[in-house]
Amino acid sequence: MSLHQITWPEPIVRVQSLSNSGITAIPKQYIKPPSSRPSLAPPARDLHIPVIDLSNLVSADPSLRSETLGLVSRACREWGIFHVVNHGVDHALMGRAREIWREFFYLPMEMKQCYANAPVTYEGYGSRLGVEKGIKLDWSDYFFLHCLPISMRDQKKWPNLPLSCREVVAEYSNELVKLCEKLMKAFSVSLGLEEDYLQKAFGGEEVGACMRVSFYPKCPQPDLTLGLSPHSDPGGMTILLPDDQVSGLQVRQGDDWITIKPVPNAFVVNIGDQLQVLSNSKYKSVEHRVIVNSAKERVSLAFFYNPNGNILIEPAKELIKEDQPPLYPPMTFNEYRIFIRTRGPCGKSQVESLKLPR
Ligand code: OGA
Ligand code: NI
Repeated sequence: MSLHQITWPEPIVRVQSLSNSGITAIPKQYIKPPSSRPSLAPPARDLHIPVIDLSNLVSADPSLRSETLGLVSRACREWGIFHVVNHGVDHALMGRAREIWREFFYLPMEMKQCYANAPVTYEGYGSRLGVEKGIKLDWSDYFFLHCLPISMRDQKKWPNLPLSCREVVAEYSNELVKLCEKLMKAFSVSLGLEEDYLQKAFGGEEVGACMRVSFYPKCPQPDLTLGLSPHSDPGGMTILLPDDQVSGLQVRQGDDWITIKPVPNAFVVNIGDQLQVLSNSKYKSVEHRVIVNSAKERVSLAFFYNPNGNILIEPAKELIKEDQPPLYPPMTFNEYRIFIRTRGPCGKSQVESLKLPR
């Protein structure tokens, strides 16, 4: 199977339809091997990811500014994931975006099927990641669309219903781009690079951005499957707007999986593989997954801020020292993303397998 196939290797089944059909046992394609199943027992320890107040990055108080940069730096090095509050995005817009997408998934199936996606670009309404025949599937449907560069933004591929969907997606995307630009500066400075270093490395005006909205239907056997299998995000960084009612996102800490509890009006920021490469592994992309449950469905919006697909991404020269050689070879993001698009989510195996011998 290759990404140029115009169709998927097996007929697509919408997980939402499966869930609505009232089945009490899930089909075998969704049943994970025992070692990959989630433990739904309450966690042995309650750990929280950092919560960072971004308004402090522009405080009049220089010590508060540098303290906040320190928090960002530590969160990116030690966790690869953190919450941000006072991030500048209107809370009402966040709520509107989530509700519009919930309504989209509630539309009759025929209307959603007009947007059915294909492996070539993944744009549209989808129900699987990976094109290999026979792979285990995740318990979710999604809608994937491109926001940037403008040349890849094709609003005809965005839903025309609910009526304000395209407008809200455009406004939401513009606001999230501003937030990402702010974070890119903070990341650059906290790595000891010029403030605009990372933005330029991503292609300046030509950066990429796309969005995946996931719908995790209720699942009759949540202990046997996952909403989204373990992976690190292949791109630069991800700004996740989780469901405000239902948790499900988990991050790996050693052998444990920690559930992220929603923080009101916050976004979850997570570091992707391209920032791990550019920072020569000073920043770590975070391995995460999603669990499902039998009581409530869950909707989340993941906004991916990526390097332009055609630019070579490699460890920043400024971070290379005699005792800190480059850990990764140069590669474009278009080449890099083929892996997850072909094989589906596979933990952190891709970025780890690229490591150069030292
Ligand atoms: C993703 C992702 C998490 C979530 O789309 O890459 O990790 O909570 N989503 O839906
Ligand atoms: Ni992810």
